[in-house]
Amino acid sequence: MSIDNASQLIKPLRIAVLVSGSGSNLQVLINAMQAGALPIEIVGVISNREDAYALTRAKDAKIPVAVLSHVASGKRMGIKTFETHASSQLASWQPDLIVLAGFMRVLSADFIDNAPAPMINLHPSLLPVYKGLDTHQRAIQAGERHHGCSIHVVTAELDAGTVLTQAMLEINQKDTADSLQARVQKLEHQLLPWTILLLAKGALSLKDNSSSHQKNTFLPALPLKLYLND
Ligand code: GAR
Repeated sequence: MSIDNASQLIKPLRIAVLVSGSGSNLQVLINAMQAGALPIEIVGVISNREDAYALTRAKDAKIPVAVLSHVASGKRMGIKTFETHASSQLASWQPDLIVLAGFMRVLSADFIDNAPAPMINLHPSLLPVYKGLDTHQRAIQAGERHHGCSIHVVTAELDAGTVLTQAMLEINQKDTADSLQARVQKLEHQLLPWTILLLAKGALSLKDNSSSHQKNTFLPALPLKLYLND
């Protein structure tokens, strides 16, 4: 299977992306979409921060954006208000898939259950270990030999949904939290497009995951571990 000609074979997957920061993972998806290397259409980007550089990346690519950061009073939006606005925005974009790519707010069960499409999250650790924040520092401090990133189905419990794919690296003795983060991000930039391609091709399923993989016994058990160069 070649990632290069995949877009000609499959109906584009409509993707909405939720971001909070730099958006380097969003940029990878934009580049792949523009190059015709991934069968996707990014239908919109939602940010909970108005200073997120991801917004510049989306606007440069002429992708619709919604900034849901502050209420009229100037205060930071509460999660309920954010979710109300995000729900109607997502409904209007009609995505097939919602991707959390560096989105740093915790979403409610109600929002996740009623979302117009399944949701996946990119997390910088080899789940189920190191859920939450500061994963690189915690992995180094614990003396781990390996670290990496995971893409999982979003559920109400933080970073706990079915893990779909993972990529791993060896922690070097000289690694700092910053250097490790940079190395893991190089893996993320490969893991995210590969995972989306596998979803678009139906090789990975988000619906009733365990049984679909049991039926298709020729497919590997989840998580699918990809060996990628950092
Ligand atoms: C990524 O490294 C991602 O793993 C992490 O935020 C970064 C966003 O980078 N996500 C989380 O920590 C979620 N808990 P980016 O904005 O450059 O794509």
